[in-house]
Amino acid sequence: MSAEPLATHGEPRVHPGLVTADDRGLQRRGRDLLFSMAAALRSLQLYPLENQTVVNALSELDGVTRELLAAEEQITVRFVGDFFFVNDLRLRIDLQSYATYGLVGRTLARHGIGELEVFRGVSVAEWTALLALVNAEPDPEDRFGAFLERLGRTAVLHLSVGPDRESEPDLRDDEARRMAKRAYAQTVAVAREVMGGLRMGKGVSLRPVKRAVQSIVDQVLTNETSIVGLTTLRDYDEYTFTHSVNVCIFSVALGKKLGLNKHQLYELGLGALLHDVGKVRMPLDLINKAGPLTPEEFEVLKEHPAEGLLGMFDMRGLAELPLRAMLMAYEHHMKIDQTGYPVSARPRDPTLFGRIVAVADGFDAATTKRSYQAQPWPPDRVLKEMRDNPGRGFDPLLVKAFISMTGIYPVGSAVILDSFELAVVTARNPRPEAMHQPVVQVIYDSMGVRVDPPRTLDLAETDPATGRPLRTIIKTTDPERYGIHVGDYFV
Ligand SMILES: [Fe+2]
Ligand SMILES: [Fe+2]
Repeated sequence: MSAEPLATHGEPRVHPGLVTADDRGLQRRGRDLLFSMAAALRSLQLYPLENQTVVNALSELDGVTRELLAAEEQITVRFVGDFFFVNDLRLRIDLQSYATYGLVGRTLARHGIGELEVFRGVSVAEWTALLALVNAEPDPEDRFGAFLERLGRTAVLHLSVGPDRESEPDLRDDEARRMAKRAYAQTVAVAREVMGGLRMGKGVSLRPVKRAVQSIVDQVLTNETSIVGLTTLRDYDEYTFTHSVNVCIFSVALGKKLGLNKHQLYELGLGALLHDVGKVRMPLDLINKAGPLTPEEFEVLKEHPAEGLLGMFDMRGLAELPLRAMLMAYEHHMKIDQTGYPVSARPRDPTLFGRIVAVADGFDAATTKRSYQAQPWPPDRVLKEMRDNPGRGFDPLLVKAFISMTGIYPVGSAVILDSFELAVVTARNPRPEAMHQPVVQVIYDSMGVRVDPPRTLDLAETDPATGRPLRTIIKTTDPERYGIHVGDYFV
């Protein structure tokens, strides 16, 4: 199986003079799409959902979309100034279409949206949800970010939006964070959808899963600090899904550190996202149990790697996964000395991908508050344990690479400085010799007074007079003792 091409962000290509029959088809259908979007937007502004005009407009839009998606893999509608592109073909404008396209463009631009992608499988319900959000009032503070957040709360999977590049403020950091957040939120939604669907015995479509993993790989390659920072959000209610996404991010970041190529990272990410998929075959009350598991319950839980592997052959839509990705589900609790589970009939070493996901999984599980673990460990202690206790069964070389990827104090660690300030690590120091000197945000000053907004400090900075670092970390601490949600510093 080959990976689908990753999204490119180049300028739209304007087709030269030669117009092919295909183009003419796309011209017509592109025009139909924008006209039916405009009609649906307008009718939704005027009438309630159940009104016949609305129903007709949405079914017209659904029909046009289906026709387009029969001919095209996906649809990308892009607005640049007064120009409108459908899959990189610039739509011709006449008097009538100018007004209609303008309406659609302006309505989307209110939310800072410059691009809309439509994927096969899109439903009327998804269109309705998206268009209703487009019609809602934008958040003046952060138009595009707020829209993404609202969209992330819906079940829309086959429609996605991109920022209007021209009107975006030139804030690299903000933009980077927003992009990371979008990839993260969409991947959580995909994980929720897939696991939920499989639990109910429904077939699942791999397409959104692949797209989500590609977006994670893109983010790790171009925007690593932001996307890794989001793993600290650790939403308790969504543990199963955020855990899958975090393991995917950590695995891909570790794979990048090891020099894997983009296609390998993609397969790695795919298997990592689905590593616990066997849990959908375990009773929900076991998965969500508060408090420790009984030995019998643990025996049942131990079936999830084998169930995951078997399930992938069984579950409609998953059988086309690469074998390497499937094995990761089977091997992630095996341990390198094979003292874990499942016990293999014939001794076999876990594959590299299996060992990578084991490290990512071990780290995320131990640092996260979840049902059967009330108190998570501080990240630095987890790393030390993984490195120093061979009984844990992690590949020592991979743990070393993982530590040099996260730093000794991973992003999200709460630390106390020698100035007695309390800070949260927000980025590692890129220089390997300065792993103990990350970038932090000071949350409480030495008197325990909240610093608002938090002050950013680079712990590698030295005092020019003495040549010694201005601040050093004394120890890590439990952020909850101070009422800190470390995730707040990454959003
Ligand atoms: Fe697991
Ligand atoms: Fe796991």
